[in-house]
Amino acid sequence: ADALKIGIAGLGTVGASLAKILVERRDMLTTTCGRPIEIVAVTARTKGRDRGVDLSSAEWFDDAVALARDAKIDVFVELMGGAGDPAYSAVKAALSRGVHVVTANKALLAAHGVELAVIAEKNGCILNYEAAVAGGIPVIKALRESLTGNTISRVYGIMNGTCNYILTKMEKEGLSFEACLKEAQRLGYAEADPAFDIEGNDTAHKLSILTTLAFGTKISADDIYLEGITNISIDDIRAAADLGYRIKLLGVAQKTDTGVEQRVHPTMVPLDSVIAQVDGVTNAVAIESDILGELLMVGPGAGGNATASAVLGDIADIAKSRPGAQTVPVLGRPAAALAPYKRAQ
Ligand code: NDP
Ligand code: HSE
Repeated sequence: ADALKIGIAGLGTVGASLAKILVERRDMLTTTCGRPIEIVAVTARTKGRDRGVDLSSAEWFDDAVALARDAKIDVFVELMGGAGDPAYSAVKAALSRGVHVVTANKALLAAHGVELAVIAEKNGCILNYEAAVAGGIPVIKALRESLTGNTISRVYGIMNGTCNYILTKMEKEGLSFEACLKEAQRLGYAEADPAFDIEGNDTAHKLSILTTLAFGTKISADDIYLEGITNISIDDIRAAADLGYRIKLLGVAQKTDTGVEQRVHPTMVPLDSVIAQVDGVTNAVAIESDILGELLMVGPGAGGNATASAVLGDIADIAKSRPGAQTVPVLGRPAAALAPYKRAQ
């Protein structure tokens, strides 16, 4: 069968890991997907930088939007980050001409997700974003597909690997906040601007996406009570432990009689709870629903390979799909069926 031709915009922590896996596991993926997946085009900020993988057969683009418009690609993989350009214009350009998109960019989806879903639906193409929330944990698939038919009452959890890594390392190794953040950055967990992690915005972006999938309301990332972990000291962590608690940065979304409540803040969780045992870069997402009951998913929340695993799964889903086949609605239901967001009183 014809190869699935992909263009990758962004060859940093996630993009380079993805490219390596695609090259190294080409034969295995060809067998699983029924056709090869080929990287035919790439872009990043710096041309000529060693990415640890041979990409010489892929065409280099200086401009991500030009790559998104390139006639030879079947899938545009956006791994640059940022809610604005070039990510926004490039994703829009690809979807507008019916090219499938895979992205890990929660900031982009939190800001423009509904608009992008409308464009994808209009042009009959797929917009997959499993890596955008909780790294390698398949929470988008769970909400978008597996839990269809359930009424969901609450979604909450640890959704930022950098913050959980910092809180864990401060407690277990007694290191300073700054030293732990530096290490998280070195390991490739943090956002390009780590303020998004430690001030809670990244968790808010992810939560706003889960809220939409869980409750069928339009994405509202601005209407979230927000408090990060920048004021948490080792003394706070020790005082919480003395009382039988551990401090975790949680994102919580729940349905009430008056609307939807979304909040992100450090939370004292009992030491004997599962969430309290989630250490380091690991994330955990709990979903409470009426037919299934409580689902708790725990797994790697950030880092090159964990994130690339989710991006790869999204690309493989496209490789396995056939033209004209029904696609999963981007936001779990047709965009026109999303209700306005109403904040709980
Ligand atoms: P990096 O900063 O490591 O990589 C970003 C890449 O994008 C780099 O290759 C950079 O080029 C390129 N880039 C930046 N700006 C431009 C531009 N204007 N034009 C073309 N290329 C550009 O980020 P990550 O790989 O960590 O993250 C990528 C995306 O994945 C983000 O949306 C992030 O939020 C998301 N994500 C990241 C996770 C992680 O654990 N790291 C986990 C889940 C999601 P150059 O290399 O030349 O500087
Ligand atoms: N900076 C993010 C985190 C990357 O630490 O969770 C994964 O989305």
